[in-house]
Amino acid sequence: MSAQGTGIVIAIDGPSGSGKSSTAKGVAKARALRYLDTGAMYRALTWWMLHHGVDVHDPVSVAANVERPIITMGTDPDAPTVAVDGRDVATAIRGKEVTTNVSAVSAVPEVRESLVRTQREIIEAARAESAGIVVEGRDITTVVAPDAPVKLFITASAEARAQRRSKEVQTVDVAATQADLIRRDELDSSRAHSPLTRTADATELDTTGLTLAEVIALVLQLAEEAQVK
Ligand code: DC
Repeated sequence: MSAQGTGIVIAIDGPSGSGKSSTAKGVAKARALRYLDTGAMYRALTWWMLHHGVDVHDPVSVAANVERPIITMGTDPDAPTVAVDGRDVATAIRGKEVTTNVSAVSAVPEVRESLVRTQREIIEAARAESAGIVVEGRDITTVVAPDAPVKLFITASAEARAQRRSKEVQTVDVAATQADLIRRDELDSSRAHSPLTRTADATELDTTGLTLAEVIALVLQLAEEAQVK
């Protein structure tokens, strides 16, 4: 790593719909930190593969194409952006096709290697240029930033997660949303490379019965404690 920044890193992992994105954004805004949604990077790469006719279920084809798209992330928590080859894909990457196929793409080791490298560069740039960054995903506490002073594993019951995600994507079919969440959790937790796991030194936060404001307040408190240590 080149830049020697001093900004704080707050690493957040958790399954889909656990509330980690809203929490990460809220914490970043409250502390004037940058914000990185690493899931959006896996989604952007998946979008590009689908758009270019790459067979996303063939790891060899996926690996051969990893370096072709240029993925650019905007890290302002008030207006995060994601672009592929200069094209804004923020809406496209939330569509059903990408959501269905992103777990297959993100299980390919070459994909993880490439995106983790970019994520570390973004983190180092933020640490050098700002007060720090909140990074969320599945392997942030374990692989991307294992030395982060604040490491969190955010969970919620499958029912609560399905309710939240259904609201986000504006569907009334909560049962189908829940089935899809569980399917993706299983894929993301059981893959050979960097599966979603909680390390012993990450604080687990079950957000099932909590409001977003309560969760953000808890994380801010943990960040404060980490900085006075
Ligand atoms: O957080 P999300 O649902 O937008 O993430 C989309 C997918 O990307 C998710 O199914 C697993 C994968 N992912 C990953 O493998 N590692 C990360 N750090 C973030 C997301």
